[in-house]
Amino acid sequence: MFKLDGKISLVTGARRGMGRTHALALAKQGAKVAVTDIDLAECEKVVEEIKSAGGEAAAWKLDVSSAAEVDKVIGEVAGRFGSLDILVNNAGVLNLKPALEMSEEDWDKVLNVNLKGQFLCAQRAAKEMMKNKWGRIINIASIASGGTGIGFAGGTAYAASKGGIIGMTETLASEWAEYGILVNVIGPGAIDTPMVRVGELNPEVSKEISVRVPLKRIGRPEEISSLVVYLASEESSYITGSTFYADGGWLAQ
Ligand SMILES: NC(=O)c1ccc[n+]([C@@H]2O[C@H](COP(=O)([O-])OP(=O)(O)OC[C@H]3O[C@@H](n4cnc5c(N)ncnc54)[C@H](O)[C@@H]3O)[C@@H](O)[C@H]2O)c1
Repeated sequence: MFKLDGKISLVTGARRGMGRTHALALAKQGAKVAVTDIDLAECEKVVEEIKSAGGEAAAWKLDVSSAAEVDKVIGEVAGRFGSLDILVNNAGVLNLKPALEMSEEDWDKVLNVNLKGQFLCAQRAAKEMMKNKWGRIINIASIASGGTGIGFAGGTAYAASKGGIIGMTETLASEWAEYGILVNVIGPGAIDTPMVRVGELNPEVSKEISVRVPLKRIGRPEEISSLVVYLASEESSYITGSTFYADGGWLAQ
């Protein structure tokens, strides 16, 4: 089960953090992987990791907020590998700022990457997936996406973008079911990546995580990648438009 041999995948924001482990996990299951991010040199390093483990991958520079770049890169990936079957919409920014201090530019930056970027990639990828009547789109949101009881200071734009992903996914799932394209969301809890480590979440918040999470620890990126692999596989064939939280039990508290 969960074999991805012969499948072509693309991961956004894959130079580090969860995007990197998603790329490694997809490759380990046999998928060819397009490793994409805003920093090409860093993507090349992930490609080398995949290749040295016996997998197949190639790197592209891709800023998901640019429709022109999305169109060009997805066209090139499909051209090089023959199709596109799996898209992991992982790229994201946090940019915490109190709502009263948030500029229009701050707001647009977060929404453009986190929400518009996922839409642009999904729309372009779907045009490739339709050709084979088979596709898997996995959108990465967060437990901080509305309706979960998690609201954190400074996260207004972030939560708006992540909540938007869930609404968008449900709609795309119903529109694209007829083309064999399944679209789902993963909402991670607190996961140990540079996004959290670079100090955007202060130490007090990190301490609270260890108190509030029943499993009493921050998650590892690989613990989200295993869910990505499942949703990318043939075995997820009756699942679309759903949101899966992987949070160590945080929302169950
Ligand atoms: N770490 C957590 O606790 C956590 C929790 C919930 C959700 N998430 C989400 O998981 C995803 C991965 O985040 P992470 O924790 O690995 O953080 P990260 O900061 O390590 O990774 C995010 C990646 O997105 C890339 N990126 C930023 N802007 C981009 C753009 N315009 N185009 C393409 N790529 C761009 C970055 O270069 C980076 O490689 C994000 O969507 C994030 O919101 C993270």
